[in-house]
Amino acid sequence: MNSPADAAVDAHWAAHDLGEVVVSASDLAQRVSELGAQITRDYAGRPPLLVGVLKGAVNFMSDLMRAIELPVEVDFMAVSSYGAATKTSGVVRIVKDLDVDLVGRDVLVIEDVVDSGLTLNYLRQYLGAREPRSLEVCTLLLKEGEQRVEQDLRYVGFSIGPSFVVGYGLDVAERYRNLDAIYTYVGAI
Ligand code: IMP
Ligand code: MG
Repeated sequence: MNSPADAAVDAHWAAHDLGEVVVSASDLAQRVSELGAQITRDYAGRPPLLVGVLKGAVNFMSDLMRAIELPVEVDFMAVSSYGAATKTSGVVRIVKDLDVDLVGRDVLVIEDVVDSGLTLNYLRQYLGAREPRSLEVCTLLLKEGEQRVEQDLRYVGFSIGPSFVVGYGLDVAERYRNLDAIYTYVGAI
């Protein structure tokens, strides 16, 4: 685990809001390539439709799809569950729906983080109703012990503690998505 001092070196422009490094850029790169290899093996002969959940999954999706050696298709959904606060409301709203039909498709949902599980629970029901052949989830982060809804997660990048984190797609009020590592957030909410 790195210290706040490392954060100050790596991302000086954000350092006053950042705590420790939770996942470094090199650990992210390594894990993403492992997940890509695993997905390549698991989906050989039936390339999945990757469904990225905007906006938090953008960085992960971008790196992960390039680590998969199959002719995957890519689409995005946008859901809103948090507003600008850091605790889920439990109310999920579809802000942007998919452009493609899911009937008979092998769908792999790409998420940034599963916290309470409420967002994913809603998405799973919503997408499952469209008759995909299979529906699995790949989340970069899983907050351990925080789930209010039990989740069946096919792929998990890293299990982390309950702290609020930013970077590599994850934001607070739309900021810090462009950090290349994941940090705890210690600034004002
Ligand atoms: P859940 O519905 O509580 O599982 O929350 C899932 C969504 O909340 C994620 O897709 C994120 O957009 C957001 N979220 C949860 N925890 C964090 C965090 O630590 N940092 C940034 N966003 C988070
Ligand atoms: Mg999200």
